[in-house]
Amino acid sequence: MPPRKIIIDTDPGQDDAVAILLALASPDEIEVLAITAVAGNVPLALTQRNARVICELAGRSDVPVHAGCDRPLIRQLVTAENVHGKSGLDGVDLPAPTMALAAMDGVEAILHHIRREPPGTVTLCALGPLTNVATALRRDPEIASRLAGIVLMGGAYFEVGNVTPAAEFNIYVDPEAAEIVFKSGIDITVLPLDATHKALITAPRLERIVALGTPVSRTVASWLNFYERFDVEKYGGEGGPLHDPCVIAWLLDPTLFSGRKINVEIETGSDLTRGMTVADWWHVTTREANALFIGDVDAERLFALITERLGRL
Ligand code: BDR
Ligand code: CA
Repeated sequence: MPPRKIIIDTDPGQDDAVAILLALASPDEIEVLAITAVAGNVPLALTQRNARVICELAGRSDVPVHAGCDRPLIRQLVTAENVHGKSGLDGVDLPAPTMALAAMDGVEAILHHIRREPPGTVTLCALGPLTNVATALRRDPEIASRLAGIVLMGGAYFEVGNVTPAAEFNIYVDPEAAEIVFKSGIDITVLPLDATHKALITAPRLERIVALGTPVSRTVASWLNFYERFDVEKYGGEGGPLHDPCVIAWLLDPTLFSGRKINVEIETGSDLTRGMTVADWWHVTTREANALFIGDVDAERLFALITERLGRL
């Protein structure tokens, strides 16, 4: 089988960084056509810069990095420096990127690749707020029928919320964009907190990454050490969750995960529950299923996969 063609839409973020590295370390299975940055964990000027830092760390300055939307569709941007640090990639000092930002705007780049490749061959992997993806769909609704699917990290049902009691960060930041995506009719796979809160960066798992003894593994370990401190303080337990790599791991080995085809609606009206993913896990409505909602992950095997792939870089 030829590698699956993907576009990574992202707001790096240390966990986004590990997801991008995982994809770049897997050329037999995945071809990264482009990386499109969006405002989220930190403002766009930093997310596009961080995406280039990550490509250079992987020795892949040939992957085009584009800057997309600098704010949600209608709301003010909410960022997460409290989790990711001021730069979005705090934890280790890396050289400023030398590769240039691609000239094409991120939304145009999404449209360009989906239109250029044969129908049904491009998968959009969304690791941040869905602003770029929704803007692309608004600009050209035809792309919905050309995409192979969207795999996204966002939302929660049993775990409810991480940024408010009701909402997960990526959906909370731009709920109107999420609503457009979930109503698009595209084949959607959702990696919500229900799965990612089981993908914990425990000490033994981190040690196995450190033991690779490479510049990439040392950098990843420093990032994860910094990034998990916030969630360990918040949730307690044996480690912080590693969210975004689950999206790429799903493409590499779906047997790591299990979930249900269900209906998911996005709350956009209420201030109290803004960005809630109302997931019909128990099939108690007649609303049509619009997403595969992942509920569980084999965390041990997930980290084994991530560690083995990081060792290739
Ligand atoms: C999501 O929010 C961001 O902070 C992470 O990068 C991840 O995409 C988790 O809620
Ligand atoms: Ca992210």
